[in-house]
Amino acid sequence: MRFAIIPVPARSEIVAKTDEAQPQYKIEYREIQAFGTLKDLPLGLSDNARKQSVSILNQVLADTMMLRDLYKKHHWQMSGATFYQLHLLLDTHYEKQAELVDMVAERIQSLGGISIATPHDVAEMTRIPRPPRGREDVPTMLARLLEAHKIILEQAHEGAKTADESGDDGTNDLLVSDIIRSNEPQVWFIGEHLAATALQRAD
Ligand SMILES: [Fe+2]
Repeated sequence: MRFAIIPVPARSEIVAKTDEAQPQYKIEYREIQAFGTLKDLPLGLSDNARKQSVSILNQVLADTMMLRDLYKKHHWQMSGATFYQLHLLLDTHYEKQAELVDMVAERIQSLGGISIATPHDVAEMTRIPRPPRGREDVPTMLARLLEAHKIILEQAHEGAKTADESGDDGTNDLLVSDIIRSNEPQVWFIGEHLAATALQRAD
């Protein structure tokens, strides 16, 4: 059996001819607000207070994004007798940290600032040490998470005080009610797994 050769139409016949049907995606990228600047918004806060809060929150955001992703790394790379329990627990913590990321980023935008967003920003700004690409043992993974929580909590306590002094109650509330109050129980839950308790009596 022979196949009929279908003639290929010229490109001018394939591409829609009307401008209305054609998305104009070949555009020159344009920035409309520089990072570090503030929009003028009627929030009843001084520019200084907003600037200070945006800077604190962007640091908390970078570290929280890093912790969120550390949770996913360790969720994937978990091992050992408690694999299933820790695999699930770390994903629960990941979900909460992802929620916090969104809350902090949107608070920054509410203040008229610009939140960092990409992994490039996080890698440049975070103070949480970079883990290896390889897989670590369970105590190392858990200790790494606790270290990251500590860095975020210290920053949140300090930031909450600064926001309180400048009159930025919303940022103070976010740092206390969401960041501090969510990170503390996560430290508790992870920390308990590092207690040297035997599952059965050994003697
Ligand atoms: Fe998963």
